[in-house]
Amino acid sequence: MASRITKAVIPAAGLGTRFLPATKAMPKEMLPVVDKPAIQYVVEEAVAAGLTDVLLITGRNKTALENHFDRATELEANLEKKGDVDRLHKVEFSNDLADMHYVRQGDPRGLGHAVLRSRMHVGNQPFAVLLGDDLIDERDVLLSRMIEEQNKRDATIIALMEVDPEVAHMYGVATIEATGSPDVVRVTDLVEKPAQGTAPSNYAIIGRYVLQPDIFDILDNTEPGKGNEIQLTDALRTQAKNNVAGGVYGVVFRGRRYDTGDRLDYIKAIVQLAVEREDLGPELRPWLKEFSATLE
Ligand code: G1P
Repeated sequence: MASRITKAVIPAAGLGTRFLPATKAMPKEMLPVVDKPAIQYVVEEAVAAGLTDVLLITGRNKTALENHFDRATELEANLEKKGDVDRLHKVEFSNDLADMHYVRQGDPRGLGHAVLRSRMHVGNQPFAVLLGDDLIDERDVLLSRMIEEQNKRDATIIALMEVDPEVAHMYGVATIEATGSPDVVRVTDLVEKPAQGTAPSNYAIIGRYVLQPDIFDILDNTEPGKGNEIQLTDALRTQAKNNVAGGVYGVVFRGRRYDTGDRLDYIKAIVQLAVEREDLGPELRPWLKEFSATLE
């Protein structure tokens, strides 16, 4: 069955305060992960899963994002003149990656509020939401598996990952029941960032969702929650508990995920991705070994 889902929504209005001063005049989504801005990995992932229409929820200071997914005529002409085909391809690659759209989130009032800003664009179709702080290794399947489940169950599908119970309080956490499929669970309840030691399980939400359009009405009626923000997790909880629009299922991801949300994880993500690159890995790996020996 061909998927009905064509639209991806990527919230990108955050201020990136954890990376100041780097993010003083530049969106955090443009921070390079090796040599590509973090946001491009996420857009590429959406496109690889067959989504052709990408809506970025932006805010003030985010024009660099629009420029990145547009032509850079002067730069392109310059590289062409020099015959630097390799770099020209790198520059041009993001121009036509997807049909890009932008809407602003005036007041950053939480992830649920950001998703609500996509309502007019999305309309009455299921759609995907991808959070930019989570990078999923392109060799591991997640989003297309979620879309497949959405098509099959006509329900909302969220991505879950088993995490160390010590860190469960940093995520939305699901109460789950098994289904007939080994990598799919039914979600019966959710809690956004539970107090340490109180998480109902170690199944954490990682930033991929395939949502039913019914989420918009639910979000509209969702009161501010954790951090006084409108939380997507709270709206999904309402959906799961009342079994609205097919309820909520989780696809359990067991692949490679890189967190770029804070400085330490960002550095780890860059090192992990760089050692595997053909152009950098062969030199970086022995250097890293030598360097780590000096730390003992
Ligand atoms: C958001 C969600 C949270 C989820 C997390 C995954 O939180 O609210 O439920 O577990 O993304 O990265 P954030 O990390 O943006 O605060």
